[in-house]
Amino acid sequence: METKRWIIDKDSPQKEFIDEAAALLSRGELVAFPTETVYGLGACAFNPEAVMQIFEVKGRLPQSPLLVHVSNQTQVKTLVTAIPAPARLLMEHFWPGPLALILPASAQVPGAVLGGKTTVGLRMPAHPVALALIEKAGPIAAPSANLSGRPSPVSAQHVLDDLGGMIAAILDAGPTGAGLESTIIDLSLDRPEILRQGGLPVEELEALLGCGLKAWSSAKPAYKTGDMEIILGEDGGLWMSLMTEADRDETAIVHYGEIPALGMAHSIKTYTLNLEGQGQNLFAIIREAEAKGYKKLIFAPLPSALSGVGRALAERIRRAAGRQ
Ligand code: TXA
Ligand code: MG
Repeated sequence: METKRWIIDKDSPQKEFIDEAAALLSRGELVAFPTETVYGLGACAFNPEAVMQIFEVKGRLPQSPLLVHVSNQTQVKTLVTAIPAPARLLMEHFWPGPLALILPASAQVPGAVLGGKTTVGLRMPAHPVALALIEKAGPIAAPSANLSGRPSPVSAQHVLDDLGGMIAAILDAGPTGAGLESTIIDLSLDRPEILRQGGLPVEELEALLGCGLKAWSSAKPAYKTGDMEIILGEDGGLWMSLMTEADRDETAIVHYGEIPALGMAHSIKTYTLNLEGQGQNLFAIIREAEAKGYKKLIFAPLPSALSGVGRALAERIRRAAGRQ
């Protein structure tokens, strides 16, 4: 199949593209769309056959539940059996935004979305294109629009590199904002827990809820990056020896702003990753280095004191290097 690509205006999405994309979703097709975190691979949340195609196309295990994307509170009410007070508070403060809430699922949510669970993950994305599409098509079940195990896509081209020819269409609104997936909080338990650190700093959730939150770091396999190896220079010594041995035609390095003591590395390709600011580009760097044919991507030692999104990024870097 040929994947249709609509170049759409981020701030005032063209109505005809939204209408056509929504029509495809209502016919059971898959449409990739931008959010403020990463691109999502959407299917109509109430169409189990369409939802099952998501797993097929991504090569994702069906036990792995999908987040349902909503654009208003009426949709939320149809998807859950209860909205506890902390959930309401979080929605009021952080939605639309990079936060997904796990709540008890209503009987309306197809089993295919839930992967055997009794809870559903909800997210209201802060992206005009995503919101316009959901408003038109209704709730959309969507994982990140990458092949299972690959870094999440932060541009339409990343999506097409992984899924081109396998999905009906993509709404291309350029690069996403945060470039890191949403933070996930489980509110179906007696005490809320963080299931994934992401674009919304855990500190902000703790400040609003007035309690400390347990943050899980589920050990996930390293990202699939073809024949490029990702290495984390865990301490200064290892980093320096990696630098001295590095073959400059085959190696690229990533540092975090202040140029580290590069030794002989001045002629090696370097990427700068901002561990603190917005517009994180970790996944874009990994995908670009792989596409350029580097065999090794070496990350500088991570600073010990990290907060906010930096902590979530450090977690992804450790995962990338198989260090979880
Ligand atoms: O930023 C994001 O969250 C992006 C954009 C597209 O919204 N989506 C995304 O989806 O990252 P995905 O499927 O790649 O990651 C969602 C994670 C998965 O690890 C899934 O297992 C978990 O959320 N999840 C979803 N529903 C859940 C539930 N009911 N209970 C526990 N974990 C859940
Ligand atoms: Mg994903």
